[in-house]
Amino acid sequence: MKALVLSGGKGTRLRPITNSFAKQLIPVANKPILFYVLEDIAAAGIKDVGIVVGETKNLIKEAVGSGKRWGINVTYIEQDAPLGLAHAVKIAEPFIGDEPFIMYLGDNLLKGGIKSFVDEYGNKREDIVILLTEVDHPEQFGVAVLDDRGKIKGLVEKPARFISNKALVGIYIFNQKIFPAVNSIKPSWRGELEITDAIQQVIDQGGRVEPFVIKGWWKDTGKKEDVLEANRLILEDLQPLNRGEVDSRSRVSGRVNIGRGTHIKNSVIEGPVIIDNNCLIEDSYLGPYTSIGEGVQIINSEVEQSIVMEKTIIIDITVRIANSLVGRDTRIKSRQGRPGIHELLLGDQSSLELYE
Ligand code: DAU
Repeated sequence: MKALVLSGGKGTRLRPITNSFAKQLIPVANKPILFYVLEDIAAAGIKDVGIVVGETKNLIKEAVGSGKRWGINVTYIEQDAPLGLAHAVKIAEPFIGDEPFIMYLGDNLLKGGIKSFVDEYGNKREDIVILLTEVDHPEQFGVAVLDDRGKIKGLVEKPARFISNKALVGIYIFNQKIFPAVNSIKPSWRGELEITDAIQQVIDQGGRVEPFVIKGWWKDTGKKEDVLEANRLILEDLQPLNRGEVDSRSRVSGRVNIGRGTHIKNSVIEGPVIIDNNCLIEDSYLGPYTSIGEGVQIINSEVEQSIVMEKTIIIDITVRIANSLVGRDTRIKSRQGRPGIHELLLGDQSSLELYE
């Protein structure tokens, strides 16, 4: 079996972070989301992995390289424009050849990985296997309607009206029957070739499509809230470790993972918190579910339930920063004195909420 990972697309719901960055590389517990996907694929014993890349191809290639780190061989498949998941499958046909394949969306995270799912498929004869899970907002996903025996009746992408709460997780197993389908469907109302339409066509033509309802958590990290929730879920399993230096005036409690060359001075850290290498946390408070990237400095400030990406500096922010996703190399500093002013240099589509 081969694997196809989708890492193109635009990431519009995560702007401005994605104006200069690939959404699949956003760090969750200090590791890019895409790396969890590649780890899952390697753990399932799959060696040949095609990664579909778009505008951010150079960033993805630089981060992933040949795949040697995971013991896999990566082939990059360039998609000129994000024309849909079924379009990505279409252009991947030469790479896939005549093997079955698992498609894994590069912005999805699944607890427990895919090994059991891949192993189970190996013993069966389905044309397609889809993963399903119950969600609160089915209108944001592709959904499946099942009959009384749990068989799939039909699939709809982002239904405007409620028809089912069983969403398609972004992980699918296909055999070659998917190719005529992706080659014959037409673009949807949003201008994309939808994988749900292609799967529906395989069903309509008598193909065997099986659902597999997952039990653990799954996250599509398309929006800020989802990225922070994924961060929270991963940090639940954080292993405490201290490779840095914590001075005697600091108090560290709960599960906290501190990287090399990191100094914690006169601060309070309440886990679960992960702090990467070469950071400085001084006269500050870090609260639960916070991930601090490499080389970050937090001085005289309070941060919780947030992701702060590498090289960012936060100084003198005593109103607590919470539920925030802060990009790389950002500077947040409070100004003293009167008149009080806010001096800003924000990227396009930034979002800033100030409490006075
Ligand atoms: O996450 C699960 C959902 O993923 C499913 O429930 C939906 O049925 C499925 O259509 C998909 O919906 P999204 O709207 O969330 O897909 P998104 O545009 O976010 O793309 C998913 C991944 O695929 C993301 O890593 C970007 C990549 N991609 C996307 C498109 C449209 C590509 O590589 N090429 C593309 O053309």
